[in-house]
Amino acid sequence: MEELILIAKGAEADLLLDPDWNGVKALIKRRGEKRYRHPELDREIRRQRTIHEASIIHRAKGAGVPTPVIYQVDPDDATIVMEFVEGERVRDIVECLPGEERRRLFKVIGVMAGRLHRASIIHGDLTTSNIINTAEGPVFVDFGLGEVSSETEKRGVDLNLMHRMLTSTHFRHTEELFAAFEKGYRESLGEEAEEALERMEEISRRGRYIERE
Ligand SMILES: Nc1ncnc2c1ncn2[C@@H]1O[C@H](COP(=O)(O)OP(=O)(O)O)[C@@H](O)[C@H]1O
Ligand SMILES: [Mg+2]
Repeated sequence: MEELILIAKGAEADLLLDPDWNGVKALIKRRGEKRYRHPELDREIRRQRTIHEASIIHRAKGAGVPTPVIYQVDPDDATIVMEFVEGERVRDIVECLPGEERRRLFKVIGVMAGRLHRASIIHGDLTTSNIINTAEGPVFVDFGLGEVSSETEKRGVDLNLMHRMLTSTHFRHTEELFAAFEKGYRESLGEEAEEALERMEEISRRGRYIERE
């Protein structure tokens, strides 16, 4: 067996690259044990979250949103083996893309966010760190906090997170990128987009109010 390469260590999971998983390059997401939890409960939580994340990745793909192909799910080992997506995190390339391309990318990201919401999927962590830009376009990863819901409030929370990311990390381009995102989002979600965008504004106002208190 070839060596696994640790590419990221999150709060919940380790991300390992297997250069030769049955002949393909694969990414292994493994939820590690949490020693502060009762062992049996811990096993059950990791098991459930593994199944849940894999099923949302699958559901998103069905909704026309590019996500990694799932190769294997092993709930007992809390492991998902998936396609290794070649590309760069959107977070890392925003600043160096030419303006036109940058706007085009965010419009597509908006279209995809609209498709997720239309299919009753909430991403749960909709940031530019969880979108990989590939030659074929953006691919969405990290559905660990994903949910099946069509609640306006949850849609608003997804949008607010993207907006906050654009305001903080990508502050040089906030306006133009959110405008492009919004355009794509409206295109794919239709009428329901207005309600979700209004809710996003409201959530953002609530946030600012709390900060000032
Ligand atoms: N299928 C994949 N192919 C390539 N890189 C990936 C893939 N899934 C995740 N990554 C990379 O690993 C990082 C962390 O993975 P993620 O699922 O977001 O874990 P976490 O829950 O710890 O944020 C991502 O930001 C991305 O750069
Ligand atoms: Mg992530």
